[in-house]
Amino acid sequence: MADHYAVLQELGLTPLWRLRARSPDVLTVPAARGQPAGEVAPAERMARIAALSWADFATDVSACTACALCKTRQRAVPGVGDPRAQWLFVGEAPGAEEDAKGEPFVGQAGRLLDNMLTSLGMKRGENVYIANVLKCRPPGNRAPTPPESEACRPYLDRQIALIEPTLIVALGKSAATTLLNVEASIASLRGRVHRYRGVPLIVTYHPAYLLRSLPDKAKAWEDLCLARATMRTAQVADLQRLPAAPK
Ligand code: URA
Repeated sequence: MADHYAVLQELGLTPLWRLRARSPDVLTVPAARGQPAGEVAPAERMARIAALSWADFATDVSACTACALCKTRQRAVPGVGDPRAQWLFVGEAPGAEEDAKGEPFVGQAGRLLDNMLTSLGMKRGENVYIANVLKCRPPGNRAPTPPESEACRPYLDRQIALIEPTLIVALGKSAATTLLNVEASIASLRGRVHRYRGVPLIVTYHPAYLLRSLPDKAKAWEDLCLARATMRTAQVADLQRLPAAPK
């Protein structure tokens, strides 16, 4: 054994590395239907997602098996809209209609969101991008679990990096607490300008909640007015950063 080691040393092949028990840094991905179970190191997965282009983004999301929601989804719902939008709206997770269509906010809550956009003089797809914290539907429309949000978060972070929005509107508690990394109520987060990696972020109620709680629509309108004012300020600041036009 000692001779064997000396030969290896001579060849520059030492020190010897021994395979240890599986590193805790490895995520075992549950098998999707018809697919073998795979293993992905979270750091590798995050680095791959952080480097995705728009061209590969939707395909990657649709092939994701990082949580059990891949087993029950009909279609993944990556997001929709102008890929260079100034406005980014982030909801919670797809519901039944979104799961069937592969597009966010196409049900009743989506119609209210469209009306909210109209009230701001905007339209889905025109300078607006709509995404969710989760890209796959939780069965029975339950709230996302923390591990699901964590598994999906690299996709949301990548989307935001690709869009480079001027302003983010978080629709409801899941979006607000995920993006801001805090545990707090909507009531305590509304009414002020937060920041997500330097981008101004406004918190408001989720449209599905507003459908059930009409009195809070007035508060949502206040939030949208704050969002519009914040957008104007951010646009002016952007203009001031532009180099002066040549005389
Ligand atoms: N609710 C959401 O949060 N997102 C959707 O896409 C639909 C309903």
